[in-house]
Amino acid sequence: MHLRRPSPVAGAGGAGDASLRSLTAMPIGAAAEPALLESDVAYAETLAREFGSITPENAMKWGPIHPDESAWRWEPADRLVEYARAHDMLVHGHALVWHEQLPAWISAVAPRRFRETFEEHLQTLVGRYRGRVGSWDVVNEALTSRGRLRDTIFLGRLGPGYIAEAFRIAHAADPDTRLYYNDFGADGLGRKSEAVHALVRGLLEDGVPIHGVGLQMHLDAASPPAAADVAANVERLSALGLDVRISEMDVRVRRIRARDRLAVQRIVYRDILAACFERTDLAGVSFWGVTDARSWIDERFGEDDPLLFDAAYERKPAYFGVRDALVGT
Ligand code: G3I
Repeated sequence: MHLRRPSPVAGAGGAGDASLRSLTAMPIGAAAEPALLESDVAYAETLAREFGSITPENAMKWGPIHPDESAWRWEPADRLVEYARAHDMLVHGHALVWHEQLPAWISAVAPRRFRETFEEHLQTLVGRYRGRVGSWDVVNEALTSRGRLRDTIFLGRLGPGYIAEAFRIAHAADPDTRLYYNDFGADGLGRKSEAVHALVRGLLEDGVPIHGVGLQMHLDAASPPAAADVAANVERLSALGLDVRISEMDVRVRRIRARDRLAVQRIVYRDILAACFERTDLAGVSFWGVTDARSWIDERFGEDDPLLFDAAYERKPAYFGVRDALVGT
């Protein structure tokens, strides 16, 4: 879907109470955890009020959803999909092929049976949500920061053709869902984004059914990519005929002087998104979580406040930076 930023809805610019999802026809989304929908009322309420799209943060990954070779755990993912339907939200599936969060059993699959196992997993998962999950991250983070193919179990067992195979299997399982390659550290211009561009261009040239690229946009406010570079990167990928979405945005601030943090974060969110909206047609923007109380960042990088809502679900300056970008102010 290509939707340039539309005019703000009546009253949205001045009133300040309009939700993000009401400001634009572009899907504005968040990564979500099904367990929180029931345990945290404010979480569930904020998610549905502000966002028009859900990416399951973990529930559809191989390990959580297919924990034993013969057993699937559908309930958490089903709950998210049902929640999205009930609140008129899209679902972006994540992630069919990724080297993290794999179940232990996969390493024990005999090499000669690996291809069949791979195919069955993708077919079953995409097939189950056919018609309900409108887009998928098919292959996630297949490239290293040097732009080489990452050494994963998929590369080892199936060879470099596994990427094209994954897209073909997913497309056969649901010909109407939009299929994405998703990666991090490829947001601005540089070696990794060139490698992503070359990879997806090659797939298109080979007739592989790929429809889009997800730029994760996990940023550090102390060293963000130049907004103009991000926009140029999006333009370059779009010129291949692909949809481009910002897929997992968050902005770390712990390296910024404490009293400036929230203001700097607001500017980073606003400048990157405004540059993209002005120069390109994004297919969507998703944030990697809802509240600073629950973000993967704390565990990986140390305590931080990377998202749009604080721990009490109050809108942060970052929220208003995003809103400013959406309404063009
Ligand atoms: O499932 C267990 C649960 O049973 C247990 O009670 C709990 C105790 O800590 O751990 C749970 O698993 C954790 C899981 O998140 C669910 O909370 C894993 O240990 C933890 O490693 C896992 O982290 C996720 C990470 O991917 C996995 O590498 C993060 O939540 C998730 O935000 C993160 O998301 C990735 C994207 O998928 C791809 N791009 C990068 C992004 C950040 O790493």
